[in-house]
Amino acid sequence: MRLFLAVYPPAEALASLESALPEADRSIRWLSVEQWHITLAFLGEVAEPVVPRLTERLGRAAGRTPPIALALRGASTFPKQARRGRTLWCGIEGETETLIRLAERCAAAARREGIELEDRTFHPHLTLARARGTHADMTGAVAALAAYDGPPWTAGELVLVRSHLGPPLRHEPLSRWPLSGHQA
Ligand code: 2AM
Repeated sequence: MRLFLAVYPPAEALASLESALPEADRSIRWLSVEQWHITLAFLGEVAEPVVPRLTERLGRAAGRTPPIALALRGASTFPKQARRGRTLWCGIEGETETLIRLAERCAAAARREGIELEDRTFHPHLTLARARGTHADMTGAVAALAAYDGPPWTAGELVLVRSHLGPPLRHEPLSRWPLSGHQA
């Protein structure tokens, strides 16, 4: 099954960001708000027998990580040149070192179970939209969100999510663990 690990902002943070979204033309496709999340690690296809042990390790990773104070702020694109963007995303501010630490713990847990992860640097972001074609001009959307400064919230949970590619694309939460580590 296709799995990833994520942190979900609370409804107030999502509603605030949703109300700040600009009108955009048909060259970009917004993700639905229910799907908005901060990906910590994309595991890809994971064989079912691996899941119980992986789940145990992830629970321990969450147990070592304290709740994380965050806010959604500003926007940018992948690749960075917004005129030819593939992905439009909202930035993450706050205790991002702790978020990065959690992402590293998730990756380590997966690797110990033999799951091969892409060797990409983790860059905290929340994907808002993708280009309908190979790329789209996202400069307008980036500019419209540049000054967006969302309300603070605390990430208190790590979620293991199953992605059903569909159509329709569906994200099914399989397990949730409280971030219950002590503050450093
Ligand atoms: P992103 O949108 O934050 O980049 C579930 O597919 C999530 O995993 C996506 O939201 C995507 O996060 C992330 N992801 C990372 N690498 C991926 C890949 N190679 N294929 C699909 N999704 C990936």
